[in-house]
Amino acid sequence: MSLPTTTEHGLCGYQLGSSTREIWRARAAALSELLAEFRWLVDMHIVDFFVQNAWAALPGEWQSEFDTQWDKALPELVDLASGGQWRSSGPASLHQFINACHTLALDRSPGLHSTPQGNRVKAAPCLNSQVPPLDSRILPGMNPKKVEEVASLAFLVSKVARKSKAHLIADVGAGQGYLSRALAYQYHHAVLAIDGDSGQTRGAQQWQKSTAKRVHSVTAQDTLLLAAAAPGLAHEAYLRHVTCRIDSTNLPTVDQLVANVQTRTAPLNNSCAPEVSPQSRWVVCGLHACGNLSVAMLQWFVETNAQALIIVGCCYNLMKEEHGSEPFPLCHSLATNQDLATPHFLKLACQAPMRWSDQISQSIRNFDRNFYRALLHYVMIDQGLVTTSDPFPVVGRMRSNAFQDFPTYCRRALSRLGHECISETTLTQYYDTHAPSAYRLAVVWTLRALLAPCIESLILLDRCLYLVDKGCAVSLIPLCDAVVSPRNMVIVATKST
Ligand SMILES: C[S@@+](CC[C@H](N)C(=O)[O-])C[C@H]1O[C@@H](n2cnc3c(N)ncnc32)[C@H](O)[C@@H]1O
Repeated sequence: MSLPTTTEHGLCGYQLGSSTREIWRARAAALSELLAEFRWLVDMHIVDFFVQNAWAALPGEWQSEFDTQWDKALPELVDLASGGQWRSSGPASLHQFINACHTLALDRSPGLHSTPQGNRVKAAPCLNSQVPPLDSRILPGMNPKKVEEVASLAFLVSKVARKSKAHLIADVGAGQGYLSRALAYQYHHAVLAIDGDSGQTRGAQQWQKSTAKRVHSVTAQDTLLLAAAAPGLAHEAYLRHVTCRIDSTNLPTVDQLVANVQTRTAPLNNSCAPEVSPQSRWVVCGLHACGNLSVAMLQWFVETNAQALIIVGCCYNLMKEEHGSEPFPLCHSLATNQDLATPHFLKLACQAPMRWSDQISQSIRNFDRNFYRALLHYVMIDQGLVTTSDPFPVVGRMRSNAFQDFPTYCRRALSRLGHECISETTLTQYYDTHAPSAYRLAVVWTLRALLAPCIESLILLDRCLYLVDKGCAVSLIPLCDAVVSPRNMVIVATKST
């Protein structure tokens, strides 16, 4: 088993390279095996819980274990999902499943590393604790989660860019430009903010204007602090924006992109910003590069002369086949896993069970909401409003007062879906018959959630192994608290030349 260590970037995480490729392939193979064995759980749709009698799919000894728990404690399930253990009295096969989920999923606690004996200890000194806070003039527009993500990622991107002697950082999927501004204004890099959506580019340009005002309205000394050419950087800081969609059919060179910059923003310290030539050294970064964008960025990095890639993915559910190529698996040695990546698999990868115990009342409310939604589906089929072969009707988000009782929830949902209401007495009867199974639904929802970190780990390892196969050295680093930011694993890849 590969354990976290101090990576070449000084942060604790996993290091992958040609010498450790086989160890990581073995880990990916073990994850694939687990996910193939429990595919029935991955591909189960909780809305279908009653219609498909999902409980019956659980091994008999697991059913008896949960059915005989006299207290049916939901907090215990929440705790289990977030990394806890199950009662020692449980059947061995259940414990094996829980242990496999916990041990095969990548560890995502920042700043821990392993002793030669395999114990997890707080790394000292660990660079994770050295991340400087963001300058207050860069903060407007960011919520506390974004502040934590941007602070840690900007620190790491800057470190990698300096080590790579990069003239330019391309922030892809820059959105409103939070990371771009931190890199330009706080870390003094030349930054090209790229987004496929012109609305996002305009938003980022507006934010930049207000940041520039704040920066230049402060004392001369502060301005110097923020905009001085940084030691060790060949070029002065600037931030430019371009609208461009990066995908497998559009992988422009960086000088082509710079030539297309829409608004030439003045360099941060008012001197002339250098142009980028095909020989310029540059790195690619992205925070929450959603769905296929992560895959396109990996390909872009591999196919261009970029020196390094620093990327955090998200929204795995948006990954889809594009122009004849599948986004998973990317690595040839995982090719046999292609049929694992169903929509359920990709959607489950986005869950964040590590957060459940931190938000315990919300998690318990979610059990109730899932129970109401699954029972509504059963009622609709039983009443002939939909058939089992119809797609699930999309109820959408409901206000919390819709969940005060089942008949209220059904009335609102049915009216939203354009159906006549069913009598209160009938709905109450459905509820009374099925309420004893609410705990069973919570059990299945929890066991399924245990697989979510395994799926995300497999997707991440697939991306890392793809890069290793292309000759890169790769680190996989948990960057900030996973409870604050569940998509906290950053891939850092560097080319050997
Ligand atoms: C989840 S947002 C992240 C924004 C920003 N990095 C942040 O963390 O706040 C993803 C961004 O990627 C952009 N995007 C998605 N696919 C893209 C593509 N193929 N090429 C360029 N930008 C893309 C979207 O427009 C969106 O602004």
